[in-house]
Amino acid sequence: MNKIKELFNIQYPIIQGGMIWASGWKLASAVSNAGGLGLIGSGSMYPDVLREHIQKCKKATNKPFGVNIPMLYPNLEEIIQIIIEEGVKIVFTSAGNPKTYTAYLKEKGITVVHVVSSVKFALKAQQAGVDAVVAEGFEAGGHNGRDETTTLALIPMVKNEMHIPLIAAGGIATGKAMYAVMALGADGVQVGSRFVASNEASSHIDFKNMVVNAKEGDTQLTLKELAPVRLLKNKFYQDVAALYTKGPSIEELKALLGRARAKRGMFEGDLEEGELEIGQVSGLINDIKPAGIILEDMIKEFNATKNRMEAISI
Ligand SMILES: Cc1cc2nc3c(=O)[nH]c(=O)nc-3n(C[C@H](O)[C@H](O)[C@H](O)COP(=O)(O)O)c2cc1C
Repeated sequence: MNKIKELFNIQYPIIQGGMIWASGWKLASAVSNAGGLGLIGSGSMYPDVLREHIQKCKKATNKPFGVNIPMLYPNLEEIIQIIIEEGVKIVFTSAGNPKTYTAYLKEKGITVVHVVSSVKFALKAQQAGVDAVVAEGFEAGGHNGRDETTTLALIPMVKNEMHIPLIAAGGIATGKAMYAVMALGADGVQVGSRFVASNEASSHIDFKNMVVNAKEGDTQLTLKELAPVRLLKNKFYQDVAALYTKGPSIEELKALLGRARAKRGMFEGDLEEGELEIGQVSGLINDIKPAGIILEDMIKEFNATKNRMEAISI
């Protein structure tokens, strides 16, 4: 039996990553209804908005779903209380110290997973008592580690050190990539960028279309001194790059970033001045589809790849 399917009681070991301004109840419930695990991204939600999304998600699916909590945003205590009050059973934490909330959440009967980008943090998460780890390579969309370790290198290194279930993330948008990371030792996958280009994602349609049109080389990891993030190279990114040529202080970078850039770009569709988070794999994403079809296509391609690989001998 697959450890991730067992841990979450789901049909396929595919998790839709929590994503600010993209993964509300519509996307999370669509993925869960299709047999994966949908996650509501709480990072872009005020506490009362999160409560509403959880309640709508419960109405839209009777399958398991979870909430992602990026620990770099405010209102953490309030968000955690809402998750407990609403009876959410699965939490993925990210961008923070796994020691802070894992024991408390587990005491409340919640399955806890932490997202990491290095072996060192995977071990810390395991030590903190999480039920599984997501190891995310440098090619992933959104916030990431500073070390630039790719998924291909990271997964087997984390696997060698850990005894709890391992979920691979970063650059996985197809059944072939899922097969590859499972060959490297992952028990399941977390997919982000591919689900941005879904009908159910709450992202602005102009951002989704920009993702579909993106080619290899159109994203870059930047703002390492603040919180490293992979962005599409739009005008805002070019402004950041221009500032970097002057050796900016952290204050100058913060001033340029300002407030609400991510909302402006990904939710309101300001493709010039907004922050547009997406992974390298956007170069492989060529259409906007229902989330359930994305999942179904991945499974079909995984099985076809498995058959093809079994026929190959070297
Ligand atoms: C638009 C966008 C927003 C994201 N927001 C979050 C977030 O709020 N919390 C988090 O843990 N990860 C976030 N991520 C990362 C995803 O959950 C996922 O791990 C990552 O996208 C996987 O790599 P991929 O984009 O190559 O599939 C985000 C990714 C994207 C593309």
